[in-house]
Amino acid sequence: MKEQDDRIITPNILEGDTDLLPNLRPKSLKEYIGQDKVKDNLTTFLNAAKKRGEPLDHTLLYGPPGLGKTTLSHIIAQEMDARLHITSGPAIERAGDLAAILTNLGEGDVLFVDEIHRLNRAVEEILYPALEDYALDIVIGKGPAARSMRLNLPKFTLVGATTRAGMLTGPLRDRFGIVCRLEIYTPEQLDIIVRRSAGILGVGIEGEASLEIAKRSRGTPRIANRLLRRVRDFAETGDGNGVITKAVSATALTALDVDLIGLDYIDKKVLDAVINKFDGGPVGLDTIAAAIGEDGTTIEDVVEPFLLQLGFLARTPRGRTATAAAYRHMGIKPKRSQVSMEEI
Ligand code: ADE
Repeated sequence: MKEQDDRIITPNILEGDTDLLPNLRPKSLKEYIGQDKVKDNLTTFLNAAKKRGEPLDHTLLYGPPGLGKTTLSHIIAQEMDARLHITSGPAIERAGDLAAILTNLGEGDVLFVDEIHRLNRAVEEILYPALEDYALDIVIGKGPAARSMRLNLPKFTLVGATTRAGMLTGPLRDRFGIVCRLEIYTPEQLDIIVRRSAGILGVGIEGEASLEIAKRSRGTPRIANRLLRRVRDFAETGDGNGVITKAVSATALTALDVDLIGLDYIDKKVLDAVINKFDGGPVGLDTIAAAIGEDGTTIEDVVEPFLLQLGFLARTPRGRTATAAAYRHMGIKPKRSQVSMEEI
């Protein structure tokens, strides 16, 4: 079980995010900022499918949480003029649950399955013929008298989303004709997203302030929009006339414990443990999690990828080590033996 992760900089969905998401979500590929390669490819595939009068091929979206996989599924449905059905891997517990969803689909509909790597085997078996032949194989009766019956399904598009493409079974992965990898956003792209969101929310924001928020959002629009909303609270209660200035955003983000590059207390606890408790590493993730009393899954899925991406942690066969950049950011002088010579 995943422990509750309610940090302000978590890329997972927090209560309150969705209040604001529906109207902040871009409604078309034209409005969607960043992910240029994915957008270009999808535009081609969508236009070709529309021209042929067929549904889009089954599409897999993968990448870290908070980058807009659900948003893209809304856009795909919108562009195809199709109805969207939303569910998730863990929500489909039994084969019968999936059968009910599939028989409810209309011609051309889009079925979005979030966390598709968490589908169980029995459910996946039902999905294969549905994807390949638009057919549902149902078994009637038990034992020697059991008979199999095939039901035709309407042609539909499965959009699967996962943070872990490596955890998909081979047969499932092979059934996606389109595979899109979403990348972490640059601060410049997030800056545009923050300004666009501020416009929709009707709050004024200075250019330097939106860039400040963008830089602290860990490459993730969901975090950027959440920070924007919190910073807006500070702007509306202070004496800044509700406008988000650079000073307001800096004060707010410091009060929220988000540092200049988006690290919060858990990231710092991890770095502190590797550096001070384990002499810079190498140390295993489980050992780090146990040492600081935090949930191992959060550390593995959210904390470690960002620290690796920043180049603050390095992976070695014997565990994680802190790099010279991590020592610098934490303001700790490395002992010579702790960091490789070329890094110093
Ligand atoms: N809001 C969240 N993600 C977005 C994106 N990629 N483009 C525009 N607005 C967004």
